[in-house]
Amino acid sequence: SVLALVIVAAGSGSRLGAAMPKAAVKVAGKTLLEWALEGAGSAGVAARIVVTVPPGDRDLRLVCQKFGALAVEGGATRAESVTAALTALSSAQSQPGFSDALPTGVLVHDAARCFTPAQVFHRVASALAEGKRAVIPVVPVVDTIKTVDDRGYVTGTPARTDLRAVQTPQGFDLPTLLEAHRQVGGLPPSIAESITDDAMLAETLQIPVATVAGASESFKITTPLDFALAQALHGGADK
Ligand code: CTP
Ligand code: MG
Repeated sequence: SVLALVIVAAGSGSRLGAAMPKAAVKVAGKTLLEWALEGAGSAGVAARIVVTVPPGDRDLRLVCQKFGALAVEGGATRAESVTAALTALSSAQSQPGFSDALPTGVLVHDAARCFTPAQVFHRVASALAEGKRAVIPVVPVVDTIKTVDDRGYVTGTPARTDLRAVQTPQGFDLPTLLEAHRQVGGLPPSIAESITDDAMLAETLQIPVATVAGASESFKITTPLDFALAQALHGGADK
């Protein structure tokens, strides 16, 4: 099966609070987008790569060019960015550098999970090759998780053994993800905002979502604490 890879890198990184978009922040002299493209490239699972970049950005577009990836302007939410990438992917058949074979599946990956090990890409790709329509990498949850009401009172405690923390790359059969994203187009922005991953869309379409083992190394760089961990693990000379 031929896979396309979508890397979403169009976010601002408000929780990280850097002076630039999160994907342009550097660890050991390389932007997080470069780390993500190198990592995905060494996994070798994708025939073509589409990256969503922040509107108006130039630097991240140059990074994409260097890696032979197609850069497209992202949207206001993650879900809209993925939609934009899928649209570009569907109309990119004639773009130079893109192989003629139409992808049958797509991996959607966060640039912010730029240290994801190749094995995780391989596990997701293998599950797709086995015929799974939607597959996500997951890890066990270490904290006890509670639900609370809008006044902050606890309403319940789901059994921790039933819970998983969800990572990327998330893999989908391409027609399935295209259909799922056609449906987001009709949703009000308040709801679109709450769609934090693509598997949620598959779930609403009643498509079974399979899981494979993720990795703690795939942690998402969200806060300054995550960035400190990235520096400690990969910072090299700028540690
Ligand atoms: N993303 C995107 N388009 C958006 C929002 C997010 O492509 N409109 C991407 C981010 O670049 C990131 C991934 O989705 O790689 C996961 O999002 P998150 O970690 O929340 O990044 P940001 O939205 O940039 O960060 P924050 O929510 O703290 O502002
Ligand atoms: Mg965000």
